[in-house]
Amino acid sequence: MDILLLAQDGTASISPNEAGAVLEQAAEKIVEVASDSSRANLGYLVAAVFFILGIKGMTHPRTAVRGNQLGAFGMLLAVMVVLVSGQVVSWPIAILGLVVGSAGGVWLARTIQMTQMPQLVALFNGFGGIASVLVAASEVLKGSGDGVAGFAAGLTGLIGSVTFTGSLLAAGKLMELPQFKKPWSFPGQKLINAVLVIAAVYLSYEMTDGTGGEFFFLVVLSLVLGAFLVSPIGGADMPVVIALLNSYSGLAAATAGFVINNNVLIIAGSLVGASGLILTNIMCKAMNRSIANVLFGKMEATGPTADADEVYAGKIKSTSADEVAMLLDGVQRVVIVPGYGLAVAQAQHVVRELANLLEANGVTVEYGIHPVAGRMPGHMNVLLAEADVPYDQLKEMDVINPTFAQCDVAIVIGANDVVNPVADTDPTSPIAGMPILNVIDAQTVVVIKRSLSPGFAGIPNPLFAADNCLMLFGDGKQVLVDLVAALKEN
Ligand code: TAP
Repeated sequence: MDILLLAQDGTASISPNEAGAVLEQAAEKIVEVASDSSRANLGYLVAAVFFILGIKGMTHPRTAVRGNQLGAFGMLLAVMVVLVSGQVVSWPIAILGLVVGSAGGVWLARTIQMTQMPQLVALFNGFGGIASVLVAASEVLKGSGDGVAGFAAGLTGLIGSVTFTGSLLAAGKLMELPQFKKPWSFPGQKLINAVLVIAAVYLSYEMTDGTGGEFFFLVVLSLVLGAFLVSPIGGADMPVVIALLNSYSGLAAATAGFVINNNVLIIAGSLVGASGLILTNIMCKAMNRSIANVLFGKMEATGPTADADEVYAGKIKSTSADEVAMLLDGVQRVVIVPGYGLAVAQAQHVVRELANLLEANGVTVEYGIHPVAGRMPGHMNVLLAEADVPYDQLKEMDVINPTFAQCDVAIVIGANDVVNPVADTDPTSPIAGMPILNVIDAQTVVVIKRSLSPGFAGIPNPLFAADNCLMLFGDGKQVLVDLVAALKEN
């Protein structure tokens, strides 16, 4: 400032020597800041490489654990670089945060059941979204966002808030809480959604003037929009909506990166956003769903579902472990179809034991894997990998479906919606159009579950009443233990 005064009024308030010393100090400071920021950018680049290697590792079950570790290390590095280079906090506070965060992570990893993972992931997505909104909000409060940064702050408010309420609602649906589980909509909802989107984008545009007053109104609109977008979705569309919300949480982080001009946030957010969109697309194809319908919260028309008594009365044939052991004596090919109940029963290890026994008797054993069996993408693959089931025995739906006619016994363990033929026969059902595993084509189907209760979509399953279907009632793990014991006795 002294130097500026010197230039403007012509009077030297400091001597030329002093001015030279000040200039020298300023130059040193600039070099220091520049090298700090290039060190930080180098750290971000290394973190980004770890993210990419992590994602690459996660493309195959064999390398998935390593991929996860690489990604987590990249994130740790990125967080430390931000904290230290941005002088946000001192080293001791950064380390304290690391210890508290790690303790929380270890506690969650140890206490959360495998079956609760999907809702935990949904909550992580939601918190990721709201964290981005808070980052943008702090910049808006500082008054530092205009032009592109202002617009990015608006988009962060929109996407992050939609992700937050949408994910909370999705978590409620996955927890099967009665007040959230049932799809809910009202006349004109889609029109209101469209108006909310347009209003939020317009307010984001208005934020380019840097005043930021619109931000908090925009956030409220977007929170409502998130709830309205997810409320009409249920049944077979849930997996798609979860993948989409995951992608949104990444996009919100990327736009927040533009607000605070942080490269690692832009890179990490874009990676999550892009991989989430790819997963959404894969899910849509697998589920025969239109991405546009899910994007705009459009629910397929569902009609009244058949009454369970009507479907089952007098047609259910129940069997025992001993009878199934006899049935399996001398068969050539068995296909095991796992579902969510396998995860609940934690029966993956005993399934492997059953398969080993059958294989020792010369039976060919394969597993039919439906893309949305369970409650998260790849749920069955993860479960069976835990029990060291050889990966090449896991057959995807398109591969296994044409072969059910050559299958002596299909053993369905805790699966319901993914083998429900109503998906093909009733266009008003909540799972209408979803491709299913055609176990009904096998010579005999044995279904292991505790009762005739419906699956996630809440509808009866005519498979259980089919002529070639036997019901083996009981907890998945206990029933399989009994079956293994009966096979050993035979
Ligand atoms: P579901 O249709 O949900 O059926 C699971 C069955 O497991 C239930 O009918 C239940 O019957 C049985 N079960 C529960 N605990 C059991 C135990 N301890 N022992 C034996 N059986 C048990 O599962 P699915 O066939 O895997 O289909 C998945 C459904 O979830 C689809 O509707 C899908 O759209 C939805 N969904 C999937 C995802 C992803 S990404 N995979 C995400 C969200 C929603 P009992 O109570 O009679 O035992």
